[in-house]
Amino acid sequence: MPVVKQINVGIIGTGWCGGIRAEASARHPLVNEIHIAETRPERLAEVAKACHVKSATTDWQEMIKNDAIDAFMISATPEHLHYPMAKDCLARGKHVFLEKPIAIELHEADDLIRIAKKNGVKFTIGYSQRFNPKYVYVHKCATDGTLGRPVSALVSRHIGRSLGKKITGRSKLSPAAMEATHDLDFLLWCLLPAKPIRVYSQNNYGAMRDASGADVPDTQYIMVTMDNGVSIMVGAGWSLPPAYPNFASTWIEFIGTEGALIIDDTHRDTMLSTVKNGIVHPMSTMPGEYVEHTYAGPMGPETDHFIEAAACDRPVLVTPEQARAVMEVYFAADISAERHEPVNLPLPESR
Ligand SMILES: NC(=O)c1ccc[n+]([C@@H]2O[C@H](COP(=O)([O-])OP(=O)(O)OC[C@H]3O[C@@H](n4cnc5c(N)ncnc54)[C@H](O)[C@@H]3O)[C@@H](O)[C@H]2O)c1
Repeated sequence: MPVVKQINVGIIGTGWCGGIRAEASARHPLVNEIHIAETRPERLAEVAKACHVKSATTDWQEMIKNDAIDAFMISATPEHLHYPMAKDCLARGKHVFLEKPIAIELHEADDLIRIAKKNGVKFTIGYSQRFNPKYVYVHKCATDGTLGRPVSALVSRHIGRSLGKKITGRSKLSPAAMEATHDLDFLLWCLLPAKPIRVYSQNNYGAMRDASGADVPDTQYIMVTMDNGVSIMVGAGWSLPPAYPNFASTWIEFIGTEGALIIDDTHRDTMLSTVKNGIVHPMSTMPGEYVEHTYAGPMGPETDHFIEAAACDRPVLVTPEQARAVMEVYFAADISAERHEPVNLPLPESR
């Protein structure tokens, strides 16, 4: 049996997702030291205490100078921080797990991919849903012949408007870039090696614009044509009325020549009713949450996968090249929604 060495991890930004990454690291036997950087002192102290960290600082650049750290997880917002943070960690020859989106601009994604390759380190992007067992079951049936030849697929996802407000309050990224990105990644993965060749998209305005006054759509629908003739449809919205914090509801239909698979991931299966809060649906967020010794959702296993890839030199499931391809599709969707016309891929900057 090969001897597997423990690794030391650094987490940048320990808000909601970074907090989950830190807790997963603290529970993992292949993690020795945990180091964290977070600009909110009260959250820094909270995570430092809960996860028994080795060091805690408000200065991420100070933390990454620590050569004892083998791998970094970057979970900071706003999203324009992803590129400079990932670039500095990769340039130091460290493994990097970066929450989506990989970057704001395509050339930034190219730069990160180049540095990771040059330094021979693991580099992956967190879409979380590839670690949701229901999604993985679709991938299995789509690729092992159960459904025959793929014909078309649909994913419709809605999240609550409090989360929609949190996301749109920190950046101008569209529902395509911030929500549909998960499902574009998922469907492109199911359909590999087919490539997207054309994108049509439309934005729909309603409650989010009324509430914020900003130019924020409630929903965005995206139709993608693949080079093998398959069409995929992804709908993404962030205006559901208040429910359980960060509630997410998803419906999947995958149609093939030999079968069809329908997945209900709307999280209506668990209902908690209390005098104080009425009816809520726990364990219904996209990342999921720890429930005592178990994890309900995909983000715990996704974090374990990265830790194991870094410690055991195993391949990562989501390659940065795939994340770049997803980025190109949602860029095309935003251009299409603005111009009200289909957009061909690859985009001029990728040709
Ligand atoms: N895969 C999923 O299911 C999923 C779900 C939600 C969010 N996300 C992604 O995860 C990322 C984090 O989202 P979140 O909801 O946890 O956000 P969040 O706002 O809860 O957490 C981000 C944290 O980064 C900290 N921060 C900001 N600037 C920093 C800096 N310079 N140095 C260190 N810390 C800094 C903030 O104080 C905050 O605590 C986003 O990029 C988002 O797109 C992924």
